[in-house]
Amino acid sequence: MSKPLIVVTGKNGQLGSELQLIAPSFDAQYDFLFADRAVLDLSSNDSIDNFCAEHKPAVVINCAAYTAVDKAETDRDAAFQINAVAVGKLAAYCKAMGALFITVSTDYVFDGNGTSPYLPSDTTDPINYYGASKAEGEKLAVTNNPESIIIRTSWVYSRFGNNFVKTMIRLMGERPSLNVVGDQIGAPTYAADLAVAIMHMVAQKAAGNAHSGIYHYSNSGAISWYDFAVAIGELIQSNCTVAKIGSEAFPTPAKRPHYSLMDCISIIQDFGVDQPDWKESLAVCIPLIQK
Ligand SMILES: NC(=O)c1ccc[n+]([C@@H]2O[C@H](COP(=O)([O-])OP(=O)(O)OC[C@H]3O[C@@H](n4cnc5c(N)ncnc54)[C@H](OP(=O)(O)O)[C@@H]3O)[C@@H](O)[C@H]2O)c1
Repeated sequence: MSKPLIVVTGKNGQLGSELQLIAPSFDAQYDFLFADRAVLDLSSNDSIDNFCAEHKPAVVINCAAYTAVDKAETDRDAAFQINAVAVGKLAAYCKAMGALFITVSTDYVFDGNGTSPYLPSDTTDPINYYGASKAEGEKLAVTNNPESIIIRTSWVYSRFGNNFVKTMIRLMGERPSLNVVGDQIGAPTYAADLAVAIMHMVAQKAAGNAHSGIYHYSNSGAISWYDFAVAIGELIQSNCTVAKIGSEAFPTPAKRPHYSLMDCISIIQDFGVDQPDWKESLAVCIPLIQK
């Protein structure tokens, strides 16, 4: 008898790659289809429609996104199509199929003026276009499929793809000193931890857990990018000096929220996911990057 199918988009991204790594442990229960843009191109509605007509998944985990935050300021149509229109279409398709739809969103849906961790129910007010396109994707997902699960995450890193941890390790090997922004506060997320949390939620839903809606997931803790860089330097035993600078000294095309810490209590309460401490997960990932 065939097993239920889990479709994962963004197969080669950080999160998609981590899901591929753990998928073999779920082989007894599920078949997996990991889709790259050659198989499912979210910038093309025809590609989405053709893919949806062909496959009958039990679960869709949407890890694909337009994640170039600065480029999104000028490449707005592409960001909106991939982060909003495509998410709405996948959500509607899952609703029609009776499939579970899980999509990943971002802390950048918030304006960053908060002073205590954002709750999933807090008002979104993005300050850059990437955040605006992701916020629109959230709305379309919920409108088209009220049973959607939306997981907002932040500061994602892994051994795969491009991320802050890999950039810091490289720069610390090249330079005697580095300036890193110290006035943006948030929480890192090791993509491997998020992948485990997502598969745990899939299992929970299969077992009858009725919860859905918007959730927050990051590793636990609250740090600045400067704190993050210092911890990376310590773990790789770097001699590079890290200095703290303000965001105004590091201008970028897209504004970044000053405070994007998210309250993750509801995902723990409703689904019992594990939320490792940010520093412990960093210590797990760094040797894998250095291999
Ligand atoms: N990275 C972060 O710090 C961060 C923070 C908060 C939230 N998030 C969210 O977390 C999720 C996973 O992020 P990530 O870091 O794993 O992203 P990532 O490494 O940038 O991967 C994004 C994936 O999306 C795919 N993609 C882009 N355009 C596509 C298209 N037109 N059709 C199909 N696939 C397309 C990319 O394919 P190619 O490999 O072909 O380019 C890539 O595999 C995303 O929803 C992101 O918005 C990320």
